[in-house]
Order: sequence, then structure tokens, then C-alpha cells
Amino acid sequence: MPTGDSRRLQPEKPALIDPFGRTVRDLRISVTDRCNFRCTYCMPEEGMKWLPRQEVLSYEEIRRVAKVCVDRFGVDGIRLTGGEPTVRAHLPVLISRLAELKVPDDADSPRAGKPIDLALTTNGATLALIADDLRRAGLARINVSLDTLDQEKFRTMTRRDDLHRVLEGIDAAIAAGFDPVKVNAVVQRGVNDDEIVALAAFGREKRVEVRFIEFMPLDAQGHWLNEAVVGQDEIVSTIAAVYPLEQLPARGAAPADRWRYLDGKGTVGVIPTVTKPFCGDCDRVRLTADGQFRTCLFATDEFDVRGMLRSGATDDELEALLRRAVGTKWAGHRIGDVAFVRPRRSMSQIGG
Ligand code: GTP
Ligand code: 5AD
Ligand code: SF4
Repeated sequence: MPTGDSRRLQPEKPALIDPFGRTVRDLRISVTDRCNFRCTYCMPEEGMKWLPRQEVLSYEEIRRVAKVCVDRFGVDGIRLTGGEPTVRAHLPVLISRLAELKVPDDADSPRAGKPIDLALTTNGATLALIADDLRRAGLARINVSLDTLDQEKFRTMTRRDDLHRVLEGIDAAIAAGFDPVKVNAVVQRGVNDDEIVALAAFGREKRVEVRFIEFMPLDAQGHWLNEAVVGQDEIVSTIAAVYPLEQLPARGAAPADRWRYLDGKGTVGVIPTVTKPFCGDCDRVRLTADGQFRTCLFATDEFDVRGMLRSGATDDELEALLRRAVGTKWAGHRIGDVAFVRPRRSMSQIGG
């Protein structure tokens, strides 16, 4: 397989900058569209059409795209997502291959000369079994999804009876030395908005940062309604009424706004996609499990990296495709606008 020359960042090879002046630094890679849960805000109970195995990128192919992004564009963070990434066999093998990637010395990044920031977003169900293996393979950070602490509600929301496994998984991730471990909770009106304070208390007790996520129109069944969104202001005032908060300085390119508890018991975040879009600072691009490159969660166009990889393209050709793709990045999503069109694929197929 021709891998071409993966040259280091040169002045004539500028970072990857989109038409609105945002520099791409973060690559989110979905390693599978499959999942062992069936969260109602994400997938139907049955009837998801999974990608055929041959359409899914191999670990070699993923590593090649990642290396081009790190070496040529100075991408300094990679996050593995799914579907549920841990259902893909031998995930530690991919992690160890990605953990070898170093940000070029001359990259415009605080991580220049250092290994990339390698992270994973998971539902946590298998973490108690594999957290140590992931750590040994070189993973640095883990974010775990957990939307409720109530066993019955967990069963309704995920269609699986695995709350205890996820809780054990969070403990296992902390014990394995991941730092930070964060918890993501998607809040839906009338479903789990009564648990905002309980989830915040959970984060305080475990000393993990809970980030409340505004429900986004990316569910496979198209059931999203604006009325089901619980907005950032409401989430923050609900928590602050019980645990006083102080907002932390600007988030940079990260999706979460953050607050600290005035009594010193850690921090809490909100990812306010719908009510306070953060697109103006976005530094993310995505690679789907079937090798399609996307410049936004909500993009309607994809760029066929897999086709290029499998037709023997050189790294120069790959670089050109990715630059062309980033040249089409929008200013931001249009949720709430009459012109908003849902992406053809849902969250689990795009990558969380
Ligand atoms: P950190 O590096 O820990 O800040 O990770 P992260 O928050 O970027 O990653 P994570 O996978 O935990 O993301 C949590 C949630 O943020 C996702 O499930 C999405 O709901 C949301 N999110 C992540 N990236 C984007 C994005 O580019 N746009 C929007 N609108 N939401 C995003
Ligand atoms: N809205 C907001 N977040 C979502 N996630 C999945 N579907 C949605 C949606 N419709 C989140 C999960 C997890 C991550 C992988 O994506 O909760 O944190
Ligand atoms: Fe970036 Fe698109 Fe998310 Fe906005 S909606 S932050 S542009 S990925």
C-alpha cells in the first residue's frame, strides 16, 4: 500500500483552516456504527441497518488518515467514538497505534513535539472489563455517557438493564488512572430533566465532571422536537439553586461551557448546541466508520476518504481531499432555522 511521504508540517504546508478562519485541530474518528445499547434519543429498538464489514475502515486505514492529519495539519487531538467504540474487536490495538502519533515540533499547538491527546467516548458498559487494557494501550482520557441514575429509567432510556455495569465502568476508569474522566448526560424534557440535580450530585461525589448535553436533532427516528430540549440556562439555574456555581473562563474550542462549585467540589459543564451554538470556535472534523470525512455533525456533504484510500491514493492526494473538504465547512449548524435540513445519517452513524 503506498503510504507516500508523511512530511512534517512545513511553512508551505499550512495548518488546516476553514473559510471562516477556524483552524482544525481535533479529529473525531468513529470506529463502528454498532452499539450494545439502543438509547431512545439515538436509535430504534430494531431495524438499524449496520454497515457491512467490508465498508468499515480497517485499523491500518484509520491510522493512515490520522497520521496525515497529525503530520501535515498539526491536528493534536483524536477522539474515538461510535456507535459504541468498545464493541469493535481489538480496540486497544488501534489505540496503541494512534498513541504513537506525535504532534510535529513546528505545529502551532501547545502539544507541539508531544504525543497527541487521545481520548474515547463510550457508554461505559464494558469499561470494568477493559479500562486497564485501554490505559496500557496509551489512551489518555475517557468520557462516559450516563443519562440517569434510576435503574428503571435507565432500562427505558437505553433498552438495556446495564446501569450497574456503567457505574462500575466509571469507577474502573477512575481506578485505571484516566484523568479526567467525564460523564455526558443528554437531557430530555419529561424524560430525565428531573435528575439534573441528582446527576450533578453524582459528579460531585465521584469528583468527575458531569456535562449536560442539550438534545440534538440527530436521533435515527426523527422524533426530536424543540420542546424536548432543556436549555443551558435552565440546567445551570436548576443546579445552582442547590449547589452555587461560578462560571469558568471561556471554553476555547471545546463544546462545553463550564462552572465550578463554590464549595470546591469540582466542576460541571453544559454542551449548549441548540440554545447557545458554539460553532464559531469549532476546531473539529470527523471520520465516519465507513471512511467518510465530515466537517460538521450537521453537514449534509461527506467526502469519500475510503474510496481514495482503497484506490491507492498517495498522502498528497489524501491531503488535497481533506483540504478541499475543509474548504466547504459551514459557519455553523442551522438548527432552529427554517432552512435547517437534518443530516441524512443519525448520530450513531456519524459518530458522537
Ligand atoms: P472533551 O475533549 O473532553 O471536551 O470532549 P468532547 O466534549 O469534545 O467529546 P465528547 O465525545 O464527550 O462530546 C460530548 C458531546 O458533545 C457529544 O456527544 C456531542 O453531543 C457534543 N459534541 C461534540 N462535538 C461536537 C460538535 O462538534 N458539535 C456539536 N454540536 N456537538 C458536539
Ligand atoms: N443529542 C445529543 N447527544 C446525543 N448523543 C447521542 N445522540 C444524541 C442526541 N440526539 C450523545 C450521547 C453520547 C455521545 C456519544 O453522543 O449521549 O454522549
Ligand atoms: Fe462544529 Fe458543526 Fe458542531 Fe457547530 S455543529 S460545533 S460547526 S461540528
